[in-house]
Amino acid sequence: MTTDATLRRRLANALATAGHLRTESWRHAVEAVPRQEFLRGGFFEPVADSVPTAWRPVLPEADGWLERCYADESLVTQIAGTIVPRDVRGEILRAPTSSSTMPGLVVRMHEDLQVESRQRILEIGTGTGYSTALLCNRLGDELVTSVEVDPEVSLRARNALSSCGYQPDLVVGDGLLGHQDGGPYDRVTATCGVLEIPREWLEQTRPGGKILATVCGWLYSSELARLTVHEDGTATGRFLGGQVSFMLARPQLTPLLGLLPDLDAGEERPTTLGNDALDDWTARFVAQLAAPRAQRITLARDGRNDTVLIDVEAGTWACLTQAGGDRWTVCQGGPDRLWDRVEENIARWRTDGAPPLDQFEITVGPEGQTITWPSGRPASGA
Ligand SMILES: C[S@@+](CC[C@H](N)C(=O)[O-])C[C@H]1O[C@@H](n2cnc3c(N)ncnc32)[C@H](O)[C@@H]1O
Repeated sequence: MTTDATLRRRLANALATAGHLRTESWRHAVEAVPRQEFLRGGFFEPVADSVPTAWRPVLPEADGWLERCYADESLVTQIAGTIVPRDVRGEILRAPTSSSTMPGLVVRMHEDLQVESRQRILEIGTGTGYSTALLCNRLGDELVTSVEVDPEVSLRARNALSSCGYQPDLVVGDGLLGHQDGGPYDRVTATCGVLEIPREWLEQTRPGGKILATVCGWLYSSELARLTVHEDGTATGRFLGGQVSFMLARPQLTPLLGLLPDLDAGEERPTTLGNDALDDWTARFVAQLAAPRAQRITLARDGRNDTVLIDVEAGTWACLTQAGGDRWTVCQGGPDRLWDRVEENIARWRTDGAPPLDQFEITVGPEGQTITWPSGRPASGA
């Protein structure tokens, strides 16, 4: 039988070959931390070909469980905010709410954070505690603070961490507020996505310190950004590429749609930019910048599938209908014209040569967050 030490070494080798693991100190951490201790409650695996995805529990008693703990895969550990693997017999069809992130991404993020010895670090999204354990191994428990919004998840992580001999400062709370008491930090890292980098993180990071987080949106495009905090309290940085996505911070989950507006009672016009433009990850990110609070839904109406973008809070919406080939009509309603904004931002990005996300820059200041691409012109909103 393969020992877990061998599995850890194999994982470290695989992560190094893939380019995620780049330094000796993080290799040491990967080879030391037993991931299975953070998955003692089991995990959920997706049921093949299920749409929407159904999940089935895999418990530690299952054949091959230990080997699966060392696959470079995200392993879902909680569904619908409360359900853990032992609660389910059969399958469950709800959204994941906590997981052990794929080790390749955890390690890549720890490397990208450019951590140095003796630095104080704040992690947002403790989850199973696996990524926290790697930080403890690298820096020592006393320099690591990790915030988790869900008390049950945090308690399980605490038990797993202490079974491995780690006792970092674990805080239960909304990580969007950071953790004032433990600051100032040299590094802040988040394993849940955010719509905007919170001001609190900047305030709790010392000048010269770095923040690493995935900026997401409700059109479900996202990217990892690394920012440096400056003496004046602002922060600037770049997106790092790789189409990184995370579950959104819980207070920022999409709001309920409520009653849909009358989608025929708007201003109609032809458009050449159709819903299919949003299939592209970067174009969708650019659209999201122009319509930061819009959600996208598909509606079967009058024998065809229409796409609706709707900003519930602002009450503004756009309904796209394919008129044939690449001809579309858009019907828009509410206080402003959502699709006009999306069209304009995508047109400007294309005119600028459609640069990839790893060329985008991000600034956070008193006026909030601004994201730009290489032409230097601001990409509206965000
Ligand atoms: C992808 S999991 C974290 C994975 C974890 N780093 C690991 O290695 O197991 C994301 C976690 O963020 C937590 N979370 C979501 N919103 C949060 C918030 N506002 N503050 C703190 N934690 C949050 C979720 O409950 C979930 O446990």
